[in-house]
Amino acid sequence: MMSWPLDSTPFLWGVATSSHQVEGNNHNDWTQWEEQGHVPEKSGRACLHYEKYPEDLNLFAELGINAYRYSIEWSRIEPEPGYFDQNALNHYRAMTEAVIRHQMEPMVTLHHFTLPLWFANQGGFFHPEAPQLFARYVKQVVSALGDLVRFYITINEPMVYAVMGYGNGQWPPGHKNLKEVWQIGPRLLACHNAAYHQIKQQRPDAMVGLAHHLLAFEPYNSRSRLDRYNARLLHSLFNGRFIQWTKHTADFIGINYYTRQYARFRQFLTPVPHKPDQVLTDMGWEIYPEGLEKLLVAMKRYDKPLIITENGIATNDDQLRQQFLKDHIAAVGRAQNQGAIVRGYFYWAGLDNFEWAEGYRPRFGLIHVDYATQQRTLKDSALLYRRIISANQGRWPISVPPEPEPPVSDL
Ligand code: FCB
Repeated sequence: MMSWPLDSTPFLWGVATSSHQVEGNNHNDWTQWEEQGHVPEKSGRACLHYEKYPEDLNLFAELGINAYRYSIEWSRIEPEPGYFDQNALNHYRAMTEAVIRHQMEPMVTLHHFTLPLWFANQGGFFHPEAPQLFARYVKQVVSALGDLVRFYITINEPMVYAVMGYGNGQWPPGHKNLKEVWQIGPRLLACHNAAYHQIKQQRPDAMVGLAHHLLAFEPYNSRSRLDRYNARLLHSLFNGRFIQWTKHTADFIGINYYTRQYARFRQFLTPVPHKPDQVLTDMGWEIYPEGLEKLLVAMKRYDKPLIITENGIATNDDQLRQQFLKDHIAAVGRAQNQGAIVRGYFYWAGLDNFEWAEGYRPRFGLIHVDYATQQRTLKDSALLYRRIISANQGRWPISVPPEPEPPVSDL
């Protein structure tokens, strides 16, 4: 088992965001997609996090978190091929310094779904020189931030990116071509590998990985052998493929976990998202904490530290969010008890934000954002998260503390 080189690093309790979803006023392939009318709302000003990050970090600090995962917007760093914008690099350096001043470990994502227009217009990751171009951008980022940042995610959710952009065409570039879904995989892998080696060259002790979207695939009919077979197939294709491929170029496994899907043999590669009569989130996703436990335990076979790089719920019912948080953190603790080396948990998202093809309707945040006034308000779930974090200092496995006793006068 690869040792955790940062033994002095405590369990990472964090929140996550991504540049396009919170920054506002971006100019990339996603804004182009929005302008072309493919989605109900444009990202526009988003949360204005690009300028309001000092306020947001103050609010995050109130949660007691010790880590923040955010992404660097490639289109800001390299708006034209080979031209690197020093102001943008300075911005991310200042923001990273502020993260550290708040005693949070920065975890930097280098690609979270968006691309500079020039790169997207030349085929994106199908560009024949994509690995070199991606590594050239990464080099600039690590030159600017490398002394401050130890944790890097090269690519967020390669399988989701492949399916949404090239399979069902709901995201840019909007292709619907099963062959491309397969072909983009090795391209993304080559870009990851190039970035991995680039980062290691500049900072050998960096911890580099990907964030994988893992779905808990289960047979629609557990008595059907064919459904069970299909669940295993989907698990290995969707969940296992990239993890297997990056065995030698990943220092940890980043896991984004949200839900379960049901495998039906007769639907082969298209799982059923949920069964009738289930309680669903505002994304239409089933709430299934046991899936996180099972997946974490299943990941033990890869012998790498695990970090939950995203887990969260879209809902306006904050009670439901609180229950979600407790149930999923309890699931992580159970997995740790069964030997899963889980080193961190990042709630998605620190604040409400732009949810891609769904626009602003789904609210994932621990912090409410009024998009008209840009006013932020801590939700009760944020206070619960703070209580969970403070009760878990130095604890392994992590757990959910009991409800505080009501004051005697209330009895
Ligand atoms: C994940 C994405 C993230 C966010 C959540 C809800 O797939 O990584 O950007 O949209 O889903």
